[in-house]
Parts: sequence; C-alpha cells; structure tokens
Amino acid sequence: MRIFSGIRASGDKTLGNYSGGYRQYAATQEQGDAVFCIVDLHSITTAYEPEGLHEATLAGAAMLFATGIDPERSIVFCQSHVQAHAEAAWLLSSVTSFGELRRMTQFKDKSADQEFVSAGLFTYPVLMAGDILLYQTDIVPVGDDQRQHVELTRDIAERFNGRYGDTFTVPKGVYPDEGARIKNLQEPERLMSTSAGNPQGVIRIVDEPDVIRKKFKTAVTDSEREVRHDPDAKPGISNLIEIMSVVAGESPAAIEARYDNSGYGQFKEDVGEAVVTLFAPIQERYRELRADEEGLRRLLGTGAEKARAASAPTLEIMVERMGFVRP
Ligand code: AMP
Ligand code: TRP
Repeated sequence: MRIFSGIRASGDKTLGNYSGGYRQYAATQEQGDAVFCIVDLHSITTAYEPEGLHEATLAGAAMLFATGIDPERSIVFCQSHVQAHAEAAWLLSSVTSFGELRRMTQFKDKSADQEFVSAGLFTYPVLMAGDILLYQTDIVPVGDDQRQHVELTRDIAERFNGRYGDTFTVPKGVYPDEGARIKNLQEPERLMSTSAGNPQGVIRIVDEPDVIRKKFKTAVTDSEREVRHDPDAKPGISNLIEIMSVVAGESPAAIEARYDNSGYGQFKEDVGEAVVTLFAPIQERYRELRADEEGLRRLLGTGAEKARAASAPTLEIMVERMGFVRP
C-alpha cells in the first residue's frame, strides 16, 4: 500500500500538526510504502520571506525525522527537488474546473486576510492533487481541514481516468478518530494554527516545557465544572479532552470517567504535563537533527532521488495519454 502526505514548510509546527499529521505519519509508516513531502512550493502561495522558507524547510525535515519517520523505510523529500510536481500541477489544472477551486473553503479563509491574493493560492489544491496522484497513492493521512482537498483530488483522478484512460489510483483520505481538529486553547472555536489566532492558545512542538504548562493552565474553559465532551456547549473542555485522548491514547469516555468530579484545575494541569512528557524526546531529537544541516541535506538528497524514481513513470503516462509528442 502506498501512503502519501505533505506538510507545509511554514511557521513552527503545532500540537494540531502533531495530532492530525506527524502522529498519523509515524503510524501509517508501519502499513506500507510511505512518502512524506515537505511542500515548499505550497509555502510561497501566501506572503513569506525567502530566508524564512529556507529555515522552515530544514525545520520541517527535522521534525518529520524527530517524530519517528525512518529515512531508511520511508521516502522523505522536498517538493521543489522533484520537478514532476510542478509539471503535474499544470497538466492537472486542465481537468480541474474554476468552479471547483472557487468552492474551496481554505482558499476563502486564507484569501480573506491577504492583502495580495496570489493565483497560486487559488490553484494550490491542484498542486496538492498532483503531489498525491504522482505516487499512485492509496491513502492520505491528514487532519480534517484537508478533507475538501482530498475529495477534490479524488474527483480530479476520476475525471482524468475517464477522459484519458485509467492512469491514477483514486486515493482515500485517512483522518484520526480523535484530534483531527485541534482548536486554539484561547479561542476554541478556531483551529490551532500559527498563522492566525491568539498565540497564547497555540502549542508549538518546540515550546519550552514551562511555556506549554502555562498555556494549558490559562486555557479557556466554561463556567461549569464537569469534564464532559460536548463540543457545542463546552468547546474549550472538549478540546482539552481530545488533546488528552491523543496524547494518552485513551478514549474521551475514559478521560471523562477519570476526571469525574475533580474540577478543571487538575485536569488542565494534567493535560499540560502529558503534552510536556510527550514532546520532551521529540524536542531533543529535533534539536540534534536541526543542528546537523549537512546531515539533513544528505537525507533530503536521497529522498529526492527516490521520489523522482517513484513519480517519473506516472508523469510519463500522463504526458503520453494527453497526446504530447515525446522527444
Ligand atoms: P500544514 O502545516 O498546514 O501543512 O498541516 C500539516 C498537517 O497537519 C495536515 O495534515 C493538516 O491537516 C494537519 N493539521 C494542521 N492543523 C491542525 C489542527 N489544528 N488539528 C489537526 N490537524 C491539523
Ligand atoms: N495542503 C496541505 C496542508 O495545508 C499540505 C499538502 C500539500 C498535502 N500537498 C499534500 C497534504 C499532499 C497531503 C497530501 O496541510
């Protein structure tokens, strides 16, 4: 089975990325041939600094390895190192409609707070579809915010297959049962993300232990005192229950039972401590990996070679089926 996922090279990665992304990547790696891509071509669709992109790309690679991706077993590479991605995006843009792209909620959300809305931000889902389809992917582990993009990828694959003959595996999105939408601890109606929202409510994987503890201690809750999972009535507490569920590997029901009658203070403290414990070894590995830039580049170089070899046959079939003359 082929597994593919992509993670943007931007900002510091969060507990949300861990929950919807890294945690699943490491788990799915056990199930087949996994390919993980640092999608730097996606990172330039909104305002960015070139030096920042450079740093974020290396940090993104280090975080994949630090959270358990094994470079011997899985392919880890940087999107801009494999030209097939940009080419596939152009070819696939002709089987994607303007109307489909216009319906993407991530485009609507992201374009709303940009002064300059790039054409790349609009066509971003086509690039993502190419990322996935080039590898004949069976499953795509992602957080819930990517569901619409994965569905569009399936539609694009089916349309291409219908028009030009069977070319692509039609991939399935895989979303975690718990923790597919981790919210900002200060604004539990909003997804946890470094690009928007109160930073005090965003847990970065690289945050110092005391910073993590403090952010949990000050997390917004409600005026009751019952630790109960009810996202509509109790969004703050429900988010904390989901986080605890992800970190401790326990069901929300088991967590509710454990904190029956104990009030919010102890619960918030325990969730914070559990996250600190989970992140401590990841932070240590991350620092070591990040300090060895040569080593990271070497790993990315090997990953790019493997990714080129894995994607080339599909791109070749696409080009042939679409009627281009080959040299
Ligand atoms: P990004 O950093 O936006 O490329 O996201 C990488 C992965 O993390 C994607 O699979 C996202 O769906 C996932 N992700 C991002 N934010 C969250 C969140 N708040 N909760 C759960 N998953 C998330
Ligand atoms: N769009 C994804 C995000 O914002 C990142 C991404 C790019 C991706 N290409 C992908 C995810 C391919 C899964 C598969 O998080």
